[in-house]
Amino acid sequence: MFKIAVLASGGGSNLQSIFDSIDNGNLNCSVEMVIGSKEGIFALDRAKTKEVETHVVSRKEYGNKTSDKILELTKGKVDLIVLAGYLSILEGDILKEFKNKIINIHPSLIPAFCGDKMYGMNVHNAVIKSGVKFTGCSVHFVNEEVDGGAIILQEVVPVNFEDNAEDVQKRVLAEEHKLLPKAIELLINDKIQVVDKRVNIVK
Ligand code: GAR
Repeated sequence: MFKIAVLASGGGSNLQSIFDSIDNGNLNCSVEMVIGSKEGIFALDRAKTKEVETHVVSRKEYGNKTSDKILELTKGKVDLIVLAGYLSILEGDILKEFKNKIINIHPSLIPAFCGDKMYGMNVHNAVIKSGVKFTGCSVHFVNEEVDGGAIILQEVVPVNFEDNAEDVQKRVLAEEHKLLPKAIELLINDKIQVVDKRVNIVK
């Protein structure tokens, strides 16, 4: 069975979409552990409800050893690390050990509205301010560059004049919940080739 670790920092609705996809037979993997970036986040409660192992690896406690601690927990235990609303940055050896085996969901059409400080509502506020007519979400591999790894899948949603950032967030999240399980399924079935910075999805 293909094994994944999920990292989260907040509500965990993307984590829930993984659990739901497994439960309804659309995703053939097991969530071995959920690692939270702080105590008290709802993502950890969702994991406990599913009787999945949980850990908290906070910057406050581990400082610049945070990624190493996550590597220690995951090395040899999982095939893929999924960042599902994980708002910290991974660095160091974990990126080498799990090369092309860490994916992230980002709530915009990368390379727009991404990079340093562009996460969560900051993204949707910037989208509204910019006047773009479309935004969306992206699943991409994680490398040394923030939101800079090869893009696996993207989905587009419209931005209407009447929308506020919360409206956009809701519309984008609905697509995230489909896109992330889809990307994981492609990886499970070995359907993804990375050529330089581009992903080819094998038919
Ligand atoms: C999601 O919109 C996700 O794309 C975003 O945080 C939210 C988490 O929601 N991630 C980032 O901004 C990463 N740069 P969730 O906790 O309900 O899954």
